[in-house]
Parts: sequence; structure tokens; C-alpha cells
Amino acid sequence: MKIIVVGATGTIGSAVTKELGGRHDIVKVGGTSGDVQMDMTSSDSIRRMYETIGKVDAVISTAGNAQFGPLEQLTQKEFEVGIKSKFLGQVNLVLLGRDFVNDGGSFTLTSGILSQDPIPGGAAVTPINSAEEGFVLGASIEMPRGVRINAVSPGVLEESMEKIGAFFRGHVPVPGWKVALAYSKSVEGRLNGQVFRVW
Ligand SMILES: NC(=O)c1ccc[n+]([C@@H]2O[C@H](COP(=O)([O-])OP(=O)(O)OC[C@H]3O[C@@H](n4cnc5c(N)ncnc54)[C@H](OP(=O)(O)O)[C@@H]3O)[C@@H](O)[C@H]2O)c1
Repeated sequence: MKIIVVGATGTIGSAVTKELGGRHDIVKVGGTSGDVQMDMTSSDSIRRMYETIGKVDAVISTAGNAQFGPLEQLTQKEFEVGIKSKFLGQVNLVLLGRDFVNDGGSFTLTSGILSQDPIPGGAAVTPINSAEEGFVLGASIEMPRGVRINAVSPGVLEESMEKIGAFFRGHVPVPGWKVALAYSKSVEGRLNGQVFRVW
């Protein structure tokens, strides 16, 4: 299969690329890195990416920012980061990519454990992950031509503990290879409208 991985150079994306790269043709997309550069907060940039790459069998997104911060300091601005980047960025990957995915292909988006298991400082992140999962469920029953859509909801990765582990006290970190298997199940399996929770 020809597979776009948005965020391929990131922590999750590189584990996904390692898992799938041996048996598929991966097009790595990043903000500043990878084979093709794209800004997921811009519809024009997403459209250009699809026009550059052409038809594919699967699109995986392992990218999207959301803003952490204590509830008492949150303003609308912090929520807008997640809405524009992680939520609408991934939604637009589907809306603008519909015609670029071959019959029977798939989209796999990324949410995260905070939709189910909140942490202090995550009040602007939890609703973004929930919205992402809601979009996957809603869109899954209307996808055309046998195209499927799923989300992967990872727990905090072992590989990310040094950077963000202090936010996730008491959480059991999951290895990247295990998270990557959920993306494999989404792309190489047949399930639709699912959230694969890996924690
Ligand atoms: N890591 C975890 O423990 C964990 C757990 C649960 C959920 N998640 C979620 O998984 C996603 C990826 O996390 P990660 O830790 O793997 O992130 P990461 O290591 O920071 O990697 C982010 C990737 O996204 C790309 N990117 C950044 N901004 C972009 C933009 N505007 N347009 C297109 N691509 C962009 C980056 O490319 P460049 O570097 O070239 O810009 C990079 O390849 C996030 O949504 C995060 O919330 C992560």
C-alpha cells in the first residue's frame, strides 16, 4: 500500500513508520521534516500536499498540537490551539483527502488517553481528543467507496516520558512499538469507526 504518515518524524510517527515501512510505501509528511512539508493548520497547505502526493491507499495522522495549562489560567486562546491544529487539522485531512484515497482505503487519526483519563493541566486537551473521537464515529457511517476511518488513542509513550512524564503522574507508559500496532490494525485490518485505546 501507499501510505501517507503525517507527523512521520515525530515520536509516534517514527514508531508507526518503523512498523509499516518494511511492507508498504510510506510518504513521510512533517511540518518542516519528511519527504513532503505541510502545515496542518492550513487548508491550502493540506490541499497542496494531496496534489503533490496523488492517490494513496491510507492516510495516517500522528500530528496535531493542543495546549496544556492549569484551568485557572486557561482562556479561549489555549482551546483554539487544539481546535485549529489537532482537531480541525485532522478533520481537514479527511475532508480534503476523501477523493485522494483509493476504494477500500482508510484514514487513521490520533486522539489520546486524556479523553478518558484526565490529568491536571489537561482541560484544554481532553475535549480535543473527545471531539476527534466523535468525528471518527460520526464520519465512519458515511465514508464513501468502502473507505474506513478509525482513531488511535495512545497512553503516554515511554519515549515521551522525559519530556512530558511530569504531567502524567501515576500513568503506565506504553512503548512506541505497541502503539504502532494499533495503527497497523487500523490500516491493515477491516474495522471501521473504532477507537483503538493503547494504554
Ligand atoms: N507522545 C505521547 O505520549 C502521546 C500520547 C497520546 C497522544 N499523543 C498525540 O499524538 C500526536 C503526536 O504526538 P508525538 O509525541 O508523536 O509528537 P511529536 O514527537 O512532537 O511529533 C510531531 C510530528 O508532527 C509534525 N508536525 C508538527 N506540527 C505540524 C503541522 N503544523 N503540520 C504538519 N505536521 C506537523 C512534526 O513535524 P516537524 O517536526 O517537521 O514539524 C512531527 O513529525 C499529538 O497529537 C499528541 O497529542 C501523544
